Amino acid sequence: MRKIKKAIIPAAGLGTRFLPATKAMPKEMLPILDKPTIQYIVEEAARAGIEDIIIVTGKHKRAIEDHFDNQKELEMILQEKGKTDLLEKVKYSTELANIFYVRQKEQKGLGHAIYSARQFIGDEPFAVLLGDDIVESEKPAIKQLMDAYEETGKSVIGVQEVDEANTHRYGIIDPLEKKDRKYEVNQFVEKPKQGTAPSNLAIMGRYVLTADIFDYLATQGEGAGGEIQLTDAIERLNRADQVYAYDFEGDRYDVGEKLGFVKTTIEYALKDEKIRDELAEFIQNLDLDTPRS
Ligand code: G1P
Repeated sequence: MRKIKKAIIPAAGLGTRFLPATKAMPKEMLPILDKPTIQYIVEEAARAGIEDIIIVTGKHKRAIEDHFDNQKELEMILQEKGKTDLLEKVKYSTELANIFYVRQKEQKGLGHAIYSARQFIGDEPFAVLLGDDIVESEKPAIKQLMDAYEETGKSVIGVQEVDEANTHRYGIIDPLEKKDRKYEVNQFVEKPKQGTAPSNLAIMGRYVLTADIFDYLATQGEGAGGEIQLTDAIERLNRADQVYAYDFEGDRYDVGEKLGFVKTTIEYALKDEKIRDELAEFIQNLDLDTPRS
């Protein structure tokens, strides 16, 4: 079986939930403390042994390319000033993996974004990591899926439970048998209408796919929201060949919407020794009773 060495990270979305901050800046560059969210995703892939990453970008996404590139002038200044800690951090982001870029020229949905990277992938199995969730786990979430792929030779889709009330926001699976953390799947449904979801197991932004998926994406029509949906192509692949779902272990931080983003920022700040105590004191002293406008 072929080893998984390549990953696609789609980053072409408009980031409308964070406007106007994302008018001129990619949402993937919004920082949790001092690191852009996309770096957490690239770090997960690198920890899993992924060597080559293709980021699917769009308009106004140049900052992502600059972030993962060398910044020789900045590095020299930090060196001269003896700021070695910062120098290491700046260099680290350029050394994580070989990063390539392709532009999605039209906003036609996640399935279309993945299809835009097909030439880079060729006929190899590959990983996909979406940027809306940072996952913390001993074994990287994507590595858990890669291991399940190595056992089965089939595509493996990462899932986790969500509240019933939120199933309409996700791709949802109709699970069959479960063995260890792996499910056979009767059906994959993208964003089922409220009250119609076949389970509360949601596709959670981590996938290992065989290159067969490109054949289905090539002919995939519009689905939920008028977009070409990756989930719909996976559903067709599952009918022709087995596709597994894998309930991966890990703490999930939703950085794709405002409330989740703020909560994640607070949680990460509380893990940072330098600011933890003062922040905890600040939170404890917040006056939560006074109504705000
Ligand atoms: C995408 C996928 C959906 C998945 C979700 C995870 O939706 O289409 O199946 O559950 O990511 O975050 P989006 O959030 O991009 O609309």
